[in-house]
Amino acid sequence: MDAAGLPMPCRLILALCCVVAAAVAAGALPPPSNLDYSFIQICTLNWTWNPPENVSSSCDLEYSSDIMIDQVPQEKREWSKSRFRVTNAFLSEEMRFKVRSECKDGNSSEPSQWVETSLLPTGIPGTAAVDLRCAWHNLEYMVCTWRPGEKANSNTSYTLYYWFDGLKNHQKCNNYSVDQGIFRCIFNLSFPKVTNTYPDISILIRTDAEEIRPVCANKNPTTLVKPATPRRVTLSKINDGIYMEWSVSTSTFPEKCLGYEVEYHSGGLDTAQRIEVENNYVTVPSTDPNSKYAFKVRAKPKPECYSSKLYSDWSEEKSIGEKADSTFYFVLIVAVPAIVAVSTIILLVYLKRLKILIFPPIPDPREILKRMFGEQTEDYQSCAKDDSVNANNRLIKEEEIHTLILTETPECTISEKENQTLL
Ligand SMILES: *[C@@H]1O[C@H](CO)[C@@H](O)[C@H](O)[C@H]1NC(C)=O
Ligand SMILES: *[C@@H]1O[C@H](CO)[C@@H](O)[C@H](O)[C@H]1NC(C)=O
Ligand SMILES: *[C@@H]1O[C@H](CO)[C@@H](O)[C@H](O)[C@H]1NC(C)=O
Ligand SMILES: *[C@@H]1O[C@H](CO)[C@@H](O)[C@H](O)[C@H]1NC(C)=O
Repeated sequence: MDAAGLPMPCRLILALCCVVAAAVAAGALPPPSNLDYSFIQICTLNWTWNPPENVSSSCDLEYSSDIMIDQVPQEKREWSKSRFRVTNAFLSEEMRFKVRSECKDGNSSEPSQWVETSLLPTGIPGTAAVDLRCAWHNLEYMVCTWRPGEKANSNTSYTLYYWFDGLKNHQKCNNYSVDQGIFRCIFNLSFPKVTNTYPDISILIRTDAEEIRPVCANKNPTTLVKPATPRRVTLSKINDGIYMEWSVSTSTFPEKCLGYEVEYHSGGLDTAQRIEVENNYVTVPSTDPNSKYAFKVRAKPKPECYSSKLYSDWSEEKSIGEKADSTFYFVLIVAVPAIVAVSTIILLVYLKRLKILIFPPIPDPREILKRMFGEQTEDYQSCAKDDSVNANNRLIKEEEIHTLILTETPECTISEKENQTLL
């Protein structure tokens, strides 16, 4: 049969048939076999397979592989000649791995079909820890926080494990705390200072209970760098401005890897000013000498060194300025003694009035007697008179009683006393 004699559509179909026939005849490239996986670390998987059989010697064999998480392709296609691929594990979601064989050289053969296998999550959905966040404090220790999954009991005791390339075995985090339903664990993490590239940190959060779903996360530590809070903030006045200085634990950070943000506001001015600083000091020029100024500072990693956007906490706020000082001294030197004096006077006056009310002056009975028996003997009269005078003295000027008054008692009383002692 002459193909040239056939109508156009028929010729196309024939051509298509010929291609398919050729492919079948040549034998499509067989796929890899025995696809499997194994954990080589807490959150690291090794996917392995065997080579396809009967591959023609002209084929430069290689494998293309890809990952899907919960049916979503991850765009992480890789080509390689080795018969394994190492990937992160997720554990909290379905993970699907697929691989096929291809001949690298030429377009002579089609790639094989995909072979797939999947790793299904264990435990009940919604029980895995959520909101996992970590910050690498001062390049010294990692602080990770998370919440229990919404289907998990609020007292579920999750355990955090971590591992990174260079650590022989995974480690268990032991320093736990729970605050308002947020779990927190702290573990030491530091590398030799010469290192400027850090391995990813694998973090696994799980429990011993089967029904609690585990979760894995891989963190790049340079994105988590959080410097320590600047300490020992000092302020001083120079010329018309204010000089501010602080210290940071520079021992852990390489030089020129930290920047600072200074915030200050004056007593009257509500809007705070922010300035970016490269060094651990700054001078704010031409400030109002009659205003109080408050300063604070925080550190941030420089983008040249770390891709972290985490600032340190703010330092304590320090103030400087006349207003603050004069107010303080006014309170200390003038107001406090004045208040004390005024209250003392008020108290004394009040006490005096109180005393008069409670102990009214007692009328002297002898005064009354004297008026009744006006014609008494001279001796008695003088004696009684002196006595009554003394009594009155005692009443009016009680505080002034002293030995002098006592010795001035009239002779008659003394003689009486003498008689008594003689008897
Ligand atoms: C993965 O498994 C293969 C086959 O057992 C092994 O040759 C390879 O070294 C493993 N890869 C790693 C990174 O352990
Ligand atoms: C591979 O070739 C051998 C003989 O060359 C044959 O016996 C075997 O069935 C072939 N295997 C496949 C999978 O085609
Ligand atoms: C294979 O096909 C591509 C385009 O599809 C072409 O650029 C390349 O040269 C071809 N290779 C061989 C060896 O024919
Ligand atoms: C646990 O963390 C706290 C807070 O950072 C720290 O003070 C304490 O020393 C740590 N304990 C241990 C055993 O590491």
